[in-house]
Amino acid sequence: MTPTFPARGAAPHAGKVRRSFAAAANAEPETWVRVTGVEAIPLRQGRSVRLGAREIAIFNLGDRFLAVDNRCPHQGGPLADGIVAGGTVVCPLHSWKVCLESGAVRKPDVTACVPTYPTRVEDGVVLVCLGAAPAA
Ligand code: FES
Repeated sequence: MTPTFPARGAAPHAGKVRRSFAAAANAEPETWVRVTGVEAIPLRQGRSVRLGAREIAIFNLGDRFLAVDNRCPHQGGPLADGIVAGGTVVCPLHSWKVCLESGAVRKPDVTACVPTYPTRVEDGVVLVCLGAAPAA
């Protein structure tokens, strides 16, 4: 799977898919995708990347990177273009506030959520986990 960046930012390390397998015998294997160098996502900003059928927003919070679907649960606004405030992002369309850790909407008081994805940094490259690897 090759990441593509639909808007801003380059993906200098894009294109390599790495799979790792959980230690537990019954655990599902995971697919980790190398997305971009850490320098491509400025502090307290987000960037969107297309990974297969998904468009994911990755945010640089300084001490960690967090990833959520790049689609606001209100009317689909591009969360990667929102303003990062603490551990949340404010949607650029109508200002809903979404928690980047849980994906839950914090404001207004509604029950809505966006999917989140585990991330990690390896050798200066941000990786995103897309869950179970596709069957070979
Ligand atoms: S689309 Fe995000 S707040 Fe309306």
